[in-house]
Amino acid sequence: MQQRLADRVAVVTGAGSGIGLATARRFAAEGARVVCVDVDATAGDRAAQEVGGEFVACDVADEAAVRDLFDGVARRHGRVDVAFNNAGISPPDDDSILETGLDAWERVLRVNTTSVYLCCKYAIPHMRRQGKGSIINTASFVALMGAATSQIAYTASKGGVLAMTRELACSSPERASG
Ligand SMILES: NC(=O)c1ccc[n+]([C@@H]2O[C@H](COP(=O)([O-])OP(=O)(O)OC[C@H]3O[C@@H](n4cnc5c(N)ncnc54)[C@H](O)[C@@H]3O)[C@@H](O)[C@H]2O)c1
Repeated sequence: MQQRLADRVAVVTGAGSGIGLATARRFAAEGARVVCVDVDATAGDRAAQEVGGEFVACDVADEAAVRDLFDGVARRHGRVDVAFNNAGISPPDDDSILETGLDAWERVLRVNTTSVYLCCKYAIPHMRRQGKGSIINTASFVALMGAATSQIAYTASKGGVLAMTRELACSSPERASG
């Protein structure tokens, strides 16, 4: 590895499993100090131990918890260089529009989309203070095309992540703060 993230502090949500875990491993191999975030304490702590990072238990759909997450990382590590906003769910009760209840719809939107809004909202002030930082939001191919097996809330949630990310990339800091 080229140590491209040497001395960088990287926050990875959903680090306990799958894409988040693989990313935590790769970021650590590139020299980052990795903050492994997960609502599953067992999996998140295991990931942090494996990559020599720090585990923070956090439900990314909870505003106060997300604010505390990024403020705490900045306080303990001095900076927030990377926010990989990756945690997401695709529960079985998210189905076709006729089958999917409002409860499943709202839960999926909250965990998949509102969480990305919150993580960006509370990571960006630290990055602006530093004058730099990178945000990576995990969407899905379903943001661009319908899925053959319908998961109506999941598809809508990832469309929201993609559109929000595009908007953030276009916004100047002045617009974002104004
Ligand atoms: N796996 C795929 O094929 C695929 C394809 C496209 C997009 N994605 C997206 O990639 C991301 C990761 O997917 P994955 O397959 O690695 O999932 P995964 O289920 O393996 O891992 C998700 C992790 O997020 C955690 N998590 C769930 N809700 C949380 C919450 N409220 N707060 C904090 N952590 C929470 C889980 O505990 C778990 O450790 C998701 O956003 C998913 O929608 C996955």
